[in-house]
Amino acid sequence: MHPFEAMAEPVRRRIVELLASGEMTSGQIAEVVGSEYRVGRTASCKHLRVLRNAGFVDVRADLSWRWYRLADRGIDALEREVVDLRVKWARRSGWDAESTEKFDPLAAPPPYAASWSVPFRGPGRPARRGLRGRQTDIPAAPDPEQGLYQILPMPMRLYAGEMAGYNVPLIPLSSGYDIPQLGYGVFKVPPADTERVVLDALELGYRHIDTAAIYGNEEGVGAAIAGSGIPRDEIFLTTKLWNDRQAGDEPHAALEESLRKLGVDYVDLYLVHWPAPANANFVNAWKKLVAMSEGGAVRSIGVSNFLIEHLEQIESETGVLPAVNQIELHPAYQQRDVVAWCEARGIRIEAWGPLGQGKYDLFGAPAVHDAATAHERTPAQVVLRWHIQKGNIVFPKSVKTERLRENADIFDFSLSDAEMAGIDALDPGDESGRVGAHPSTLN
Ligand SMILES: NC(=O)c1ccc[n+]([C@@H]2O[C@H](COP(=O)([O-])OP(=O)(O)OC[C@H]3O[C@@H](n4cnc5c(N)ncnc54)[C@H](OP(=O)(O)O)[C@@H]3O)[C@@H](O)[C@H]2O)c1
Repeated sequence: MHPFEAMAEPVRRRIVELLASGEMTSGQIAEVVGSEYRVGRTASCKHLRVLRNAGFVDVRADLSWRWYRLADRGIDALEREVVDLRVKWARRSGWDAESTEKFDPLAAPPPYAASWSVPFRGPGRPARRGLRGRQTDIPAAPDPEQGLYQILPMPMRLYAGEMAGYNVPLIPLSSGYDIPQLGYGVFKVPPADTERVVLDALELGYRHIDTAAIYGNEEGVGAAIAGSGIPRDEIFLTTKLWNDRQAGDEPHAALEESLRKLGVDYVDLYLVHWPAPANANFVNAWKKLVAMSEGGAVRSIGVSNFLIEHLEQIESETGVLPAVNQIELHPAYQQRDVVAWCEARGIRIEAWGPLGQGKYDLFGAPAVHDAATAHERTPAQVVLRWHIQKGNIVFPKSVKTERLRENADIFDFSLSDAEMAGIDALDPGDESGRVGAHPSTLN
């Protein structure tokens, strides 16, 4: 038995009791336990792989598996991951789509699992330091007589603030690296304020910053990262290649400039910012990013604002798909066709403008407003929670510390299926919800 497993046993028993008695929700337990016992992410990932290889055991019934992930990401994240995997494998195995819709993936193992042994073929793990690279902080065993009792009186919010980054789920990318599902975006943050607000965000626990060369504030982001004292490999940093640098060898020069301004020797994610199709250079830019990803200065590569036609073009000309597509996505504009295309190919969706940039009355929509009232949350928290449950990666922007805190405090409640469906229905299904530029015409 793994020493951690032995140590976890009394806590696990107490979790079962708490869940059964309804004293605490699974999210609350996950928050407390996850904060107290920081199991290395490598360990959790390893156990998740075993879980996957085991044919997707029923995690509701198997709390020992739940424990490992619970300590790292929380029960909801684990359950969602198993749901996603089952649906994915059901589709791949040719199981018909209608049954997939009706099937409750958490209620029982999928019918084909009994006869199928589906090895988990992950993207492979390059030797590196990084978010998944540490297996430390395994605590000394608690008093087995006391188990979780000792932990329960701790104030939960203590961690939601100082250690919010810790509670944020990590999403695996096809590159083998993980990205925190919630981050902080700095579009339109004035350069003079950037260092202060990014420092605020890092102090609050954000560990994922999204910037771009065109935002003009990479220096401020870099200054905040340097000044925070947080080890570089604990922060996920994204920047983007602007449209006028897509030709020839320009992407390499642009990356060098961004690295210099950011004061770092690598970025976690580098994106082609827009396809800018009139310039006909995005395939060239993508080829350069592919080359960059083979060196040390860029860990994962992706695109932004790519429509299916642009994605198909880079796929057919390079055979390499991006790890993410960062697109405008909020309740009134969900781009379901692009999302479905990407999801089917393991491309993660990053939703920019997750709050609709405040450009329409999203917060007053009854579906959002009513859910906010029911959960005693703000409308912004409800919308961000909707994104999280959809699996979108988000990095809402605010220059206000209070809102940064509010936007991160979304991991201890869940929207019901009906509430999710109500927000899903806010997309009229046409272009009228778009608040930003159209990728076919911005060059
Ligand atoms: N790839 C691309 O082409 C692209 C395009 C746009 C954005 N992005 C990225 O996506 C990030 C997020 O998108 P975004 O900044 O455009 O839009 P957003 O996050 O949807 O909205 C930001 C607006 O919402 C307000 N806000 C933030 N939190 C709030 C809260 N809790 N309650 C009420 N209002 C709140 C902010 O105001 P205050 O600042 O006054 O609080 C700001 O006006 C950007 O920062 C950027 O990193 C990428």
